[in-house]
Amino acid sequence: MESISLRKDEHIDLCLHQPVESGHAAGLGAYSLEHDALPEVDLDAVDLSVEILGRRLEAPILIGAMTGGTPRAEILNHRLARVAARLGLGMALGSQRAMIEAPQHTRTFAVRDAAPNLPLLLGNLGAVQLNYGVTTAQINAALEAVGADALNLHLNPLQEAIQPQGDTRFKGLRAALVEALEGIARPTLIKEVGAGISRTTALKLAGLKIAGLEVAGVGGTSWAKVESLRGDAPIKAEVGRRLAGFGVDTATSIGHCRAALGPDRLVIASGGVRGGHDVAVALALGADAAALSAPLLRAAEAGEDALERALRVIIEELRVVCFCAGCPSIKALRAARLLRRAS
Ligand SMILES: Cc1cc2nc3c(=O)[nH]c(=O)nc-3n(C[C@H](O)[C@H](O)[C@H](O)COP(=O)(O)O)c2cc1C
Repeated sequence: MESISLRKDEHIDLCLHQPVESGHAAGLGAYSLEHDALPEVDLDAVDLSVEILGRRLEAPILIGAMTGGTPRAEILNHRLARVAARLGLGMALGSQRAMIEAPQHTRTFAVRDAAPNLPLLLGNLGAVQLNYGVTTAQINAALEAVGADALNLHLNPLQEAIQPQGDTRFKGLRAALVEALEGIARPTLIKEVGAGISRTTALKLAGLKIAGLEVAGVGGTSWAKVESLRGDAPIKAEVGRRLAGFGVDTATSIGHCRAALGPDRLVIASGGVRGGHDVAVALALGADAAALSAPLLRAAEAGEDALERALRVIIEELRVVCFCAGCPSIKALRAARLLRRAS
């Protein structure tokens, strides 16, 4: 197996079996929705549906960007897509670089073959690949080949810095993004991968032709940690472990992204989102939807039933939180009162 595919299977294994959580708080647990024991809404009437990028989702939840490029990734992607379609949720693919470099991998990303009714599919690529020769024509072909509705471009300097032979030539990337975004044929979001988007970064990105930002803040999977578990470079590995919490936590990053983008563009919360109450807090802090990755990978590895159950628990938890906070809709949730928990 060539190197990108090998790396993708290693990432899956490490995220399934090693302690790759950052060990730092996502910040969402510092808040609680204000409980209202007289909610003036029926539980059955709580409507969790939202419109994201023009697509209706049954709940403001996406399966976050993870994988593709190997037979194992194909099986997982198909499970993720079928369950997302059944529950009316969105799904993001992992980096499509493998299929750009080797078209035989396209089928491992082609989840609409398994789930034609999937309401929202996001493609994915490392933004830094623009500095390594990937063209907008290649990106558009990759999106077209899988029927993606939108693109998620990820920024991951910390991951690349720790990754053995990482792609660390970031200089000039903003200018390359400005140019590429003119030619990309789908709405494009920019995301991090677990170190978050700071106020400074959000302001640099807000001037670009993007549909939104996905925060992927500190508090969940740490890609510094994942990469420190790969390869045989002990100095880098030690640095990766030490920097597992470097970046912006998810709760803080949601605020920075919303402030920079204003009310009309999308903010997706991710990084350590682990339950329905986390989703509710993220939305009350200003996000439009939330994405979860590693926990859903673990559930998908256990099988489609386990994955569906895990997502149903999160959705039901969100519904009960909305009910007990007196929010009949996601619009109401986004305006709901948050309390800071005593620390
Ligand atoms: C196995 C795995 C592979 C991932 N691969 C990608 C990727 O290719 N592109 C990307 O943008 N993010 C990727 N991510 C990062 C996630 O999208 C997410 O930003 C990060 O894991 C934080 O979310 P979590 O705490 O819910 O896992 C990956 C995550 C996992 C668990």
